[in-house]
Amino acid sequence: MLFDPLTLLTTALAFAGAAVAAPHSTRRSFGVPSDDGFPAPNAQQLLDIERIADGKLSNAPPPAKLAPSSLTAFQVIAFNELFEVAYFKSMIDNITADVPGYQLPSQAKKDELLDIMQTILAQEKLHALNAIGTLKYFNAFAPEPCQYVFPTTNIRDAVALAETFTAVVLGTLQDASQLLAKNGDDGPVRAVASVIGQEGEQNGFFRILLARKPSEKPFLTTSVASYAWSALQGFVVPGSCPFPLSNVDLPIFKPLSVLSGNAGADVDARDQHLTFSADLTGVSAAAKYVGGNGSGLFVTYLTGQQLPISEPVQNVHWSGNQITFEAFFPYNDNIMDGLSIAALTTSGNFTGPDDLPAATIAAPGLIQVYSKVKAWDSSDI
Ligand SMILES: *[C@@H]1O[C@H](CO)[C@@H](O)[C@H](O)[C@H]1NC(C)=O
Ligand SMILES: *[C@@H]1O[C@H](CO)[C@@H](O)[C@H](O)[C@H]1NC(C)=O
Ligand SMILES: *[C@@H]1O[C@H](CO)[C@@H](O)[C@H](O)[C@H]1NC(C)=O
Repeated sequence: MLFDPLTLLTTALAFAGAAVAAPHSTRRSFGVPSDDGFPAPNAQQLLDIERIADGKLSNAPPPAKLAPSSLTAFQVIAFNELFEVAYFKSMIDNITADVPGYQLPSQAKKDELLDIMQTILAQEKLHALNAIGTLKYFNAFAPEPCQYVFPTTNIRDAVALAETFTAVVLGTLQDASQLLAKNGDDGPVRAVASVIGQEGEQNGFFRILLARKPSEKPFLTTSVASYAWSALQGFVVPGSCPFPLSNVDLPIFKPLSVLSGNAGADVDARDQHLTFSADLTGVSAAAKYVGGNGSGLFVTYLTGQQLPISEPVQNVHWSGNQITFEAFFPYNDNIMDGLSIAALTTSGNFTGPDDLPAATIAAPGLIQVYSKVKAWDSSDI
């Protein structure tokens, strides 16, 4: 096995709360590499990226039209892909330089992993360029790179975090497809679907490295764009984006921290109560609940393609506007393996994921349930 399977996952996987671990000012920040012209490569630089990525950008004509909310979806996709480019580049740099925590057992394993990661990095660059190109074609706002912070300091946690944010992306791209369909914007659907498969391939590889079955669930967990947009803010150095975040017309929710199961990164596969917390300062829809017993508040879970599952908030404690509470995690009835996405909501009766954002006061909380397995290649790497 590439990584010690017995090592506990220590990822401060508070994806959304990633930045909470230490003040930004004391942490190193990372940008997007520009040595190959990215995110505005010239024709030769683009061809170089495509060669590393093992394929080219689509040459299909641009869609005839895109509705404003379809363009918002592409803004979130571009913003996310730029973050991923910075993240995978940092990971590659750490492995290349044998940074403590990123050393591999042999030169052969190091070369193999770097080869794969360089391809993934170039593929993410093309995903970003595809989204940015679409936005520019329609003269819509196209996000530029920000400065980022990462919570990971070893390779296993770095792969685990990549697996989690990729699973969130896989849910978010479902939301983008649904939105494109609703808006009658069929043009980009084929390309978005091809990226969903592509990111799934990446995640199967990450899962194998982590000694998990490569295929996570029969139907991957869905999400909504505003949850991904909110979660991504946990990786962005505040104020570092060269544009106002309000250019993207989506709410930014307060993080919902999962306190149980190693910050949600390793929750046991069983029915149980999980502990959550959220700082609701400044959330006007939450004001009437502050200091209360939690009546009217729910944790709503997205898992697989199940309709949203709501559980009442219990055992509430307040410290000012900071709420800490428990909610039931209904693993057995819903077979909640893999990623589940939790939100603190003011309703417990949802007919589908699209209804969640309007009733959300903190989100997302990310929960991973893994059945550990002996990976097929565990003996030779
Ligand atoms: C690379 O290493 C630095 C220094 O330890 C760390 O801050 C950063 O999070 C690492 N990057 C990744 C993607 O793990
Ligand atoms: C919680 O407070 C509401 C009113 O705010 C009250 O109706 C309800 O009975 C309380 N529940 C418990 C368990 O105390
Ligand atoms: C959901 O709606 C049903 C019927 O409208 C109602 O009886 C039930 O109390 C609601 N549940 C919650 C958790 O709000």
